[in-house]
Amino acid sequence: MIGSANGVRIGITGLGVNVPDRVVSNDELAEYVDTNDEWIVERTGIRERRMASDGEALTDIALPAAQAALADADADAADIDLLICATVTPDMMFPTSSALMADALGAHEAAAYDLLAGCTGFMYALAQAYGMLASGLSRRALVIGGDVLSSILDWHDRSTLVLFGDGAGAVVMEHVPRGGFLGFELGADGAGGVHLQLPGSGSRHFDQPEALLKMNGREVYKFATRVMVSSATAVLEECGRTIDEVDVYVPHQANKRIIDHAVGKLGVPHERTVVNVDRFGNTSSGSIPLALADARADGRLADGALVLMTGMGAGLTWGSALMEWTEGSGS
Ligand code: UT7
Repeated sequence: MIGSANGVRIGITGLGVNVPDRVVSNDELAEYVDTNDEWIVERTGIRERRMASDGEALTDIALPAAQAALADADADAADIDLLICATVTPDMMFPTSSALMADALGAHEAAAYDLLAGCTGFMYALAQAYGMLASGLSRRALVIGGDVLSSILDWHDRSTLVLFGDGAGAVVMEHVPRGGFLGFELGADGAGGVHLQLPGSGSRHFDQPEALLKMNGREVYKFATRVMVSSATAVLEECGRTIDEVDVYVPHQANKRIIDHAVGKLGVPHERTVVNVDRFGNTSSGSIPLALADARADGRLADGALVLMTGMGAGLTWGSALMEWTEGSGS
């Protein structure tokens, strides 16, 4: 799916993030599996990640992010009429985490649902909220992306345990006077889905109650390096913009090597690229908003800045968005 905005201006007016307090170093993971800090840093760029403590579930981590986004937008939860939570690790399948959070926030007028698109979930959710707002069905949306991947990791599998972390981010989306989203490109390749899956998590594998993440890292790596470039290129073309015009590049934070590959192929200067995989690992649906928040904290999200975001993950799925940041209309 690909498309560009037709004069409709819908942007982000509030941004908030939250990560669990518990910091887990590479050395700590070496107590569970045969690995070491040197291998992890060299092959992934990850130095530490945050992980939920016992009893901490998705909504515990995502709610503070949502509250921060609302405060940032100077918005009242009661004025939110759409709440989408992108996640593969909801508190439970139902009630949905979005419905639970809508209630906790006081967003009693909101349609609320969870969205499942792997690590690309936040990008899909942005596009959905955009469509709802552009059609006039929604007036103010809250989009949350977050995951507690530590809850589905196999703590005996070194090839996956070291890669992931927990965290969440949220944005308020509404009509803005200038700037906003320029276009989206989203895709899915179910044939490659087998390379990153959670067997035992749904109706097909009811005889395998153990639901732990399984990944063929090399295949996902090949997929990732391909789509990070093709998706970004496609959305830029669709919007009639070039990579030279991009002020802030926000790639999914899965592996520093994947980011470096995309940066090289796309030709984005490193100083325009947001990298925080060293501190958070791959936080799945939390990855893009956490990176956006870092870019903002660094002063990079100036008014009018052209921002390119690309995510990819289980499905296999991918998605890009191009937007002009609108500072001041809430954010
Ligand atoms: O949102 C999408 C989520 N997933 C991804 O983006 C993951 C994409 N894939 C990757 O990032 C990389 O493929 C990995 C980081 C998972 C693996 O890196 P790699 O350079 O492709 O390593 P490899 O799988 O080719 O393995 C090389 C060696 C193997 O040992 P042998 O067979 O050569 O003896 C692995 O067993 O490294 C070994 N290895 C480890 N060694 C120490 C795998 N994991 C570890 C580890 N510590 N944690």
